Amino acid sequence: MKKLTIDLADRSYDILIGRNFLPRLGDHCSHLKSVHRALIVTNPVINQLYGKIVTEGLRSAGMNIECVEIPEGETHKTLQDAQIVYDHLIENQYDRNTLLVALGGGVIGDMAGFIAATFLRGVPFIQVPTTLLSQVDSSVGGKTAVNHPKGKNLIGAFYQPRLVAIDLDTLGSLPPEEFRAGMAEIIKYGIIEDPELFTFLEKNAEKILAQDTQCLASIIETSCAIKAKVVEQDERESNYRMILNFGHTLGHAVEALTHYARFKHGEAIAIGMVYAARLSAHLGKCSEAVVLRIKSLVERYGLPSQLPDFSAKEYIESMYRDKKAHDKNIRFILVKDIGSVEIVDRVAEADIQKVLAS
Ligand code: NAD
Ligand code: GLY
Repeated sequence: MKKLTIDLADRSYDILIGRNFLPRLGDHCSHLKSVHRALIVTNPVINQLYGKIVTEGLRSAGMNIECVEIPEGETHKTLQDAQIVYDHLIENQYDRNTLLVALGGGVIGDMAGFIAATFLRGVPFIQVPTTLLSQVDSSVGGKTAVNHPKGKNLIGAFYQPRLVAIDLDTLGSLPPEEFRAGMAEIIKYGIIEDPELFTFLEKNAEKILAQDTQCLASIIETSCAIKAKVVEQDERESNYRMILNFGHTLGHAVEALTHYARFKHGEAIAIGMVYAARLSAHLGKCSEAVVLRIKSLVERYGLPSQLPDFSAKEYIESMYRDKKAHDKNIRFILVKDIGSVEIVDRVAEADIQKVLAS
């Protein structure tokens, strides 16, 4: 078992990375002394797979445990669906000494975190991420949210969990396309911060795609360490944390234009990363060799690299609508070299358009 600590003063917490420790999860909750009741928030698919193990695992902490399900999928990441959990909490008279347990991928993690941030003005929660994407990205760093019909993650809060428990064994049941989507975020960490991670991904693609335990543990730990380092320095994304949005400017537009139905988040980010690299080369920030390495790695992991067929106007309008658009400017994270990026607050529309058309 590996343990990383994310240092955020009184909001610090551990990230545990190991195998088959969910059956003893309660042993790692001894710091949550005042908690006497826990509510597992999950969906029917994940409940069927891991609900019982986590329930049994938490009993050693002496908690009274119940479980509530939200219907499966991104379309249920809404306030209406969150209401199912608020209703359960209120009808069953849960108080502030309640622990919420987010058991699932990023959808469940973001929602359970948001509910924890808002129920009774805040109760503790822990993340038990079960997708690769949630293990390396969404469970760490305290961004919580639900979607609004006008856009993704528009209603949310920064609210840190009290523990992130990453059990690699949960990846065994993950559909391969979900595994690949998680790989996009790991590639992103290599590009923004860690050339050695990027090279490791290049050299070990076969083993990683076969889910070799040692390789997986290593890249998940490195990814979480990078995310922890970034969040420690800029918890509320005033500047530096924006580097985590590499590939997201165009990626979000791809998701929005395809109505969140055609691409998984990680797949859209893969397309966005290749575009951001091409834009960087066009602006003289990096060499064509860097673009080629990024595109090749994305494709090696079975991720898409080509832009879906929308006009430059449609892409640009969608990028202006995104919540990450800045004072009516389109902000890009541009790559200078593998492991080094730059936040550029305003990229000229003409340049964006030229690269979209090329
Ligand atoms: P997801 O939560 O939708 O999970 C993907 C699918 O896998 C779902 O169908 C789920 O039921 C299933 N699943 C989950 N674990 C499984 C397992 N172990 N075995 C079998 N099936 C399993 O998708 P995701 O990619 O984990 O998360 C995407 C969400 O994360 C988006 O809503 C995105 O906005 C959010 N996100 C948040 C942050 C953040 O910092 N908070 C960062 C990135 C993404
Ligand atoms: N996933 C981007 C962030 O956490 O800031």
